[in-house]
Amino acid sequence: MTDPLSLVDRAKYASAHCAADFVQDGMRVGLGTGSTSAWLVRRLGARVAQEGLRLMAVPTSTRTAELARAVGINVVTLEEAGWLDLTIDGADEFDADLTLIKGGGGALLHEKIVATASDRMIVITDAAKQVAALGAFPLPVEVISFGWRASQALIEEVLATMDVMGRTTRLRMNGERPYQTDEGNYILDLELVRIGNPRQVSLVLNQVPGVVENGLFVDIADQVVIGHADGRCELRDLSSGTPQITEAQVDLAAARNIFTDL
Ligand code: A5P
Repeated sequence: MTDPLSLVDRAKYASAHCAADFVQDGMRVGLGTGSTSAWLVRRLGARVAQEGLRLMAVPTSTRTAELARAVGINVVTLEEAGWLDLTIDGADEFDADLTLIKGGGGALLHEKIVATASDRMIVITDAAKQVAALGAFPLPVEVISFGWRASQALIEEVLATMDVMGRTTRLRMNGERPYQTDEGNYILDLELVRIGNPRQVSLVLNQVPGVVENGLFVDIADQVVIGHADGRCELRDLSSGTPQITEAQVDLAAARNIFTDL
């Protein structure tokens, strides 16, 4: 029988499965958005059913909330949780400092609020997303719909003064209409190609009137779990200043069973 999982799916599964082991009984946990996070949510749902794991989980999107409820996870608001022990989320790109580009799935605002309201953030990813310099993945910027063209023009103006290689911006679409976030806002995707100084770009973008938040996560993530298609996962921990690297192995047969059960 052919394997229903692609190589990337297997790597994402391995990463999510390893990271799920950091979730302990009684924790308040932020749940990310995207296909890697969906594997995490399914794995945590399985642990709730098998181990009676008790969680207060804060999802970062309506999609994740629906999946979490469907697999039996106790979903609460961030206000109900107060503060989170841990957030686990995917990324579109990450560099050696664990600076991230996020928001490919459109959930960057809630993702950043949830991650920064957590003691710890673990990024779950496959190895292909590691880059020497961020920017090949277009940087999502959430803007309010009112006056979005003016915000776009101002963003292009400030980009002219930044250390970036590309300056094209475009409104994210959903068919014929602008894509709308869970907050009803729009997203501008910035094709910067290479971002020389992510911290500066992030700070400057957030000064533009109409910009709600941008998808650069600077000094937010503490650890990354990199999954591989053979089931290996590598944990890199930057929280102590010196990178600590540990490895684990995931049983991919379980992934195939989950996949066929979906
Ligand atoms: C969602 O808005 C994003 O930040 C995702 O975390 C990111 O796009 C990673 O998605 P995948 O896990 O689907 O690759």
